[in-house]
Amino acid sequence: MSNGDPNGLANQSRVAAPADSRVFATSIRDLTKEYVLKSETVKALRGVSFDVQEGDYVAIMGPSGSGKSTLLNLLGCLDKPTSGSLYLGDDDIAEMTDDQLAEIRSRRIGFVFQSYNLIQQLSVVENIQVPLYYQGKLGADEKRRAVELAERVGLGDRLSHRPAQLSGGQQQRVAIARSLVNDPFFVLADEPTGNLDSATTYEILAIFDELNSDGRTIIIVTHEDDVADRAKRIVLLKDGMLHSDEKVSEERRDAARLAQQQAVKELLAKQ
Ligand SMILES: Nc1ncnc2c1ncn2[C@@H]1O[C@H](COP(=O)(O)OP(=O)(O)O)[C@@H](O)[C@H]1O
Ligand SMILES: [Mg+2]
Repeated sequence: MSNGDPNGLANQSRVAAPADSRVFATSIRDLTKEYVLKSETVKALRGVSFDVQEGDYVAIMGPSGSGKSTLLNLLGCLDKPTSGSLYLGDDDIAEMTDDQLAEIRSRRIGFVFQSYNLIQQLSVVENIQVPLYYQGKLGADEKRRAVELAERVGLGDRLSHRPAQLSGGQQQRVAIARSLVNDPFFVLADEPTGNLDSATTYEILAIFDELNSDGRTIIIVTHEDDVADRAKRIVLLKDGMLHSDEKVSEERRDAARLAQQQAVKELLAKQ
């Protein structure tokens, strides 16, 4: 852990990190995941290796059943690999206990889900603070940070609203602010625009662009080409294996951004 070491993770037995792992938000090698069912074993990941540099913006694509959610769950410390190594910063997740994984998850992982996953009884600011609540940190500084993040995603005038009083796009903005509150290694987003119309999708992608420009690492699962084209890199999974890993050129990103901007303009003009 880079921020002190409150849980003594550094003293636990673990494999030494690769020498240059600090530049990587995550580094995975020969990662496999098998689900053992009564009658069969499903090989969801069959040996996947790649690195994600700090500041990268990666789209994970692939057909249904190719292992995208499994990979995202492993990156998010929600589950452990069957074999292989998975570093987050300097920590080897594969070596950790469930309690340690829960710690990392609450302290250094930001999640954004397709269905927002907000708590209905809580206000915008309170929802943003939820990850801190699990760390027992709820002082004035934390509240200020939550308000700043709400402002950052354009909800400065909705601080006391509850999720039901917000549009889908606004709820996803709350979820993005919440994902940032614990200063994560990276933001993991699972189909974050899957429930949103194209104009709102465009707004949410603009926020991801801004975050990434500020240096935040983003890993997003999507099946939409125009969403993936906004990332810096597209990793394609097939049958639990890495099928391709392609850099997206600046030209292609700009073209996707422009095309979406244009489509939204035309849509709004028709209304
Ligand atoms: N909890 C689970 N138990 C058993 N099999 C699973 C489980 N989760 C996923 N799988 C299987 O693993 C494979 C990969 O699934 P998944 O990672 O969800 O793919 P994707 O997100 O690309 O659709 C599929 O064959 C799926 O049925
Ligand atoms: Mg999935």
